[in-house]
Amino acid sequence: MIKAKITSTAHYVPKNVMTNFDLEKMVDTSDEWIKSRTGIQQRHIVSPEEASSDLSTRVAKDLLLKRGISAEDIDLIIISTVTPDHFTPSTAAIVQKNIGANNAWGFDLSGACSGYIYGLETANNFIISGKYKKVMVIGVDTMSSILDFTDRDTCVLFGDGAGGAILEPSDSESGIVDSILHMDGFGGNFLHVPGGGSRIPPTVDSVKKRLHYIKQDGKKVFKFAVKGMADVSERILAKNNLTGDDIALFIPHQANKRIIDATSDRCNISKDKVLININHYGNTTAGTIGIGMNEAFNEGRIKGGDYILLSAFGAGFTWGSILIKW
Ligand code: UT7
Repeated sequence: MIKAKITSTAHYVPKNVMTNFDLEKMVDTSDEWIKSRTGIQQRHIVSPEEASSDLSTRVAKDLLLKRGISAEDIDLIIISTVTPDHFTPSTAAIVQKNIGANNAWGFDLSGACSGYIYGLETANNFIISGKYKKVMVIGVDTMSSILDFTDRDTCVLFGDGAGGAILEPSDSESGIVDSILHMDGFGGNFLHVPGGGSRIPPTVDSVKKRLHYIKQDGKKVFKFAVKGMADVSERILAKNNLTGDDIALFIPHQANKRIIDATSDRCNISKDKVLININHYGNTTAGTIGIGMNEAFNEGRIKGGDYILLSAFGAGFTWGSILIKW
């Protein structure tokens, strides 16, 4: 059976850095609290003229350069994001125009923090269909555009960034081996942006009530995230007759270092095989895993034949794992 493999990786984060000390001046918080409760030390934040399509376009151009192909070779562009430039047109359409991918179609995919693995799963199946040969997946979020910088429960947690990959049919063992994905709408109200959509269209009143900002019941989400991410990671290993020892690198979604530690402990994956960059970037939502994968690749932490495990949990609730043989 055809399977998809990753043939190029890239990431981009905006230049501006906001440290925990900067946040101390904005809300009642401390570097000590943020570091000890989440692992975050700083995050990157876009400048006023930058939006999700700009971060994605940089990633897309880098992906093409590294793969040594032209934009016209791309068949399909999938942009996973909850912070598109606009409701319409899609961020995918803007990126398609920016890079000149004249033979591609595409769409935005809303999977929140699981957006990158939802995107990889989708791309994998387009490749498996046999009809598409080069699919670009980019996970991007400009979380600062929906953050309330007066709400310490959320504004300290997130950052802006994008990571992506090109997927192509594999002619060898390497590629996406397995995936398990979930969704449970029961969790919808624990992590959401209440206003701005068709339920509560934007009005002066909705903006005054700050309904277009992200809201989270952190404690509730934490509980479900630990269970969801650990369970699904454990299950995908068992299903493929693997243990934590067989995994060369675990690239988890970066929402909270304590969630990552709980998941890797449950799967018996030793700490040196767990990618952690939440200290630099915070939670970039759909950006985290693609950013982590490209950093790992650049640092020589991924080699041919390695088993790589990706796991995420996020708003929706959405969660899942993907197992890759590199
Ligand atoms: O990626 C999408 C999925 N999202 C997640 O996975 C996030 C899951 N949740 C979390 O990561 C954690 O729940 C948080 C980091 C959001 C919060 O950590 P926590 O250990 O659950 O803290 P808490 O909400 O129980 O708050 C503990 C205390 C409270 O004070 P009291 O009631 O004990 O006096 C909060 O008011 O910390 C206080 N607090 C803060 N203090 C300083 C809450 N936020 C802050 C803050 N700075 N930013």
